[in-house]
Amino acid sequence: MAPFKTFALPVSIAQAVDTAAGNPIRLSSNENPYGPCPLARKAMAEGINSSNRYNWGTAEQLMAALAKKEGVTEDNILIGAGSTVILDLIVQWLAFKKGNFIVGHPSYINWTKRAEKLGLKKIAVPVTPGKELSLAAMLSAIDADTRMIYVCNPNNPTGTFCEHKALIDFIKAATEKAMVVVDEAYIDFTDQPSVSHLIADNKNLVVVKTFSKIYGLAGARTGYAIAHKDTINQIAELQTWANGDVSVVSRAAALASLADVDFVKQCHAKNTAARNYTMEQLTRLGMRCIPSVTNFIYFSLADYKKDFFDVLKSNNIEGTFIYEEEGQWTRITVGTMDEMRQLIKVLQ
Ligand SMILES: Cc1ncc(COP(=O)(O)O)c(C=O)c1O
Repeated sequence: MAPFKTFALPVSIAQAVDTAAGNPIRLSSNENPYGPCPLARKAMAEGINSSNRYNWGTAEQLMAALAKKEGVTEDNILIGAGSTVILDLIVQWLAFKKGNFIVGHPSYINWTKRAEKLGLKKIAVPVTPGKELSLAAMLSAIDADTRMIYVCNPNNPTGTFCEHKALIDFIKAATEKAMVVVDEAYIDFTDQPSVSHLIADNKNLVVVKTFSKIYGLAGARTGYAIAHKDTINQIAELQTWANGDVSVVSRAAALASLADVDFVKQCHAKNTAARNYTMEQLTRLGMRCIPSVTNFIYFSLADYKKDFFDVLKSNNIEGTFIYEEEGQWTRITVGTMDEMRQLIKVLQ
C-alpha cells in the first residue's frame, strides 16, 4: 500500500514533488514542478478503484466542466490524451486533401513530423527579431494549398505572445482561407485572454489546450480542443471512441484540478517570481533574454564564456538545445526558486 500513501499526502505547493537527492533538476520540458495539485492526487487515488469500468460519465462531466470554463457548450469540446494528440488528429483530418501547413520558426513542432509524413508540406515562417510570431508574414505565406496555420500563443520556445487584437484580426483574415489552430498550452501563465470564444461562429478555428502545464498533469496525458460543433464532429471521427482516449484516473485528475483554483493561482505567482529572478540573473551574467510570459525563458548563449551544456550536464541539470544557431538561442524551463538559484550558481 506504500504508493497509495504518497497519493494521499497533502503536498504543499512550497515543496516540489521530485526533489529527492540524486534526481536531476528537470528544466527541459516546461513541466510544473509543483503538480499535480492535492485535489487531483486524491481524485486519482480514488479513480484507481473504478478503473475496471469505462465510466463514460466522467468524460461527460469533464467536458461539461471544460465547457463552463471556456464559456462554450459540451459539443464544442473534444478531449484527448494530451493536446499533441489533438494536434495529430487535426493533421490527419486536414492531410486528406494534401497541401501545406504554416508554422512559425522556432515554434512547438512535436506534431509536424507526422504532418509531413502524411503528405503535408511544411512552410516555416521565421519569428521577428524580437522573437515574436510574425502574423503578417504567416498571413502572406498562405496560398491556395494551405490547409492549416498553427499559432502557438504564447509561443514555445520564445515565450512571447501575440497582441490580442492583432491575433483576432489575423484569425478573421486567415480563417477565410484555411484552418487556424491556436495552441494555448501556456495561456494560464499570462494575463492574456483566450480566443476560444471566437469558435462560436467560425468553423475554421480550433483552440487547443492542455492539463500538462499550469495544472501539473503532463504525465496524466489530458488535453482538449475547443471548436465549432461541426468541426469537433469531423475531428472526433478520427478517434476510435470520441472523448474516450483519456483514462478514468486522468479524467478524475483533470476534473479535480479545475476545482483547485487556489493551486493555479499559487503556481502562477511562484512561476512569475522564479522567472523574474532567473531573467535578472541570466541578464547579469551577460545573456540576452527575451521577455517571457510563460514558464520558460528563451535566451542567447552568444556571449556566455563557458560551455553551457557541459555545465548543465556536470551538475545534473536537464536543459534543451540550440534552437537557432545564429545568436545561439536556447530555452530553459522555470522550475522552483531553489532550482533556479542552483542553476544560476553553477552558471556563474
Ligand atoms: C505549445 C505546446 N503545446 C502542446 C504541448 C504538449 O501538450 P500535451 O502534454 O498536452 O501533449 C507542449 C508541451 O511542451 C507545448 O509546448
